[in-house]
Amino acid sequence: MLTVQHLTKRYPNHTAVDEVSFSVREGETLVLLGTSGCGKTTTLKMINRLIEPTAGRVDLNGTDIRRQNVHDLRRTIGYVIQETGLFPHYTIAQNIAVVPQLLGWADQRIRQRTAELLAMLHLPEASLHQYPDQLSGGQRQRVGLARALAADPPVVLMDEPLGALDPVTRASIRREFRHLDALRQKTIVMVTHDVQEAFELGDRVCLMDKGRIQQIGTPKELLLRPANDFVRRFFDDQRLTLQLQTVTLQDLLPLLATYQPMPSDTLLLPPDTSVSDALKAMAEGQTAAVQLADVVGPLTSQNLLSAFGQWRQSPPS
Ligand SMILES: Nc1ncnc2c1ncn2[C@@H]1O[C@H](COP(=O)(O)OP(=O)(O)O)[C@@H](O)[C@H]1O
Ligand SMILES: [Mg+2]
Repeated sequence: MLTVQHLTKRYPNHTAVDEVSFSVREGETLVLLGTSGCGKTTTLKMINRLIEPTAGRVDLNGTDIRRQNVHDLRRTIGYVIQETGLFPHYTIAQNIAVVPQLLGWADQRIRQRTAELLAMLHLPEASLHQYPDQLSGGQRQRVGLARALAADPPVVLMDEPLGALDPVTRASIRREFRHLDALRQKTIVMVTHDVQEAFELGDRVCLMDKGRIQQIGTPKELLLRPANDFVRRFFDDQRLTLQLQTVTLQDLLPLLATYQPMPSDTLLLPPDTSVSDALKAMAEGQTAAVQLADVVGPLTSQNLLSAFGQWRQSPPS
């Protein structure tokens, strides 16, 4: 568990981070979200001691990180940055091996781990002997991630990890990230200014402004129960898309048609399916059903959209 308490960074004329407190559970992904300059990177860098705080503290598994050896700390915490920070004159294999080599691993163990990482991150074996500029942006980003995961750190910090990619590659890598076993067990703090990314990848989102936390909670909590006007306005532009992604069949049950037995070959969707995923699943007018304990209800794109429309008229406050 990672705990940040009253973390503050003051520069002579500017407070970059102001009394930030949060904790991240083991295996959880917390996304720091906010516009440029709101203090996300500074917060992240205080967690691995790339920046020393003016005040406040960071505890990792109950121990103040200032009392831990900085090299041990960096071994425990993987770090991924936007431009990937790969060494251009190192091959991909050499780039991935940087931390294991610092740790004095035997060559055989490094080779084995590298092969594992390539497979996990869907990188071609041939890339091992190539240089970063011979790979695509998406591949480089995966190498950056492979390098951060090489020594299997329990905590991973990511600063705009997909920021350098074009929107299409970005969306596909984002989907991939979500399903990577290599990341699923990790405690992750990820920085982004991209609302979509925050909602897709964050178990919880910490929305910041001017160095302060405005709200911290699940994407759904931020969207449906904004703590203040700043939070409400922050999501205005993308509200419809975000609602489609976060409102689930369960939320709409009271508004959906009455339930009746369905043929056994009906496509069954679990109640936590989002409206947008349900619409995708019901390709071209196909009928589906919400899977409940012992009743199933019929579902078409039409009745789903109508229920969603009603929900939007009066969302829960
Ligand atoms: N070394 C520094 N000296 C003075 N101000 C800084 C320094 N580093 C960052 N800042 C300021 O602190 C604020 C937060 O920066 P940063 O954490 O990089 O924001 P973000 O990552 O959210 O874009 C910005 O206004 C930035 O200009
Ligand atoms: Mg930044």
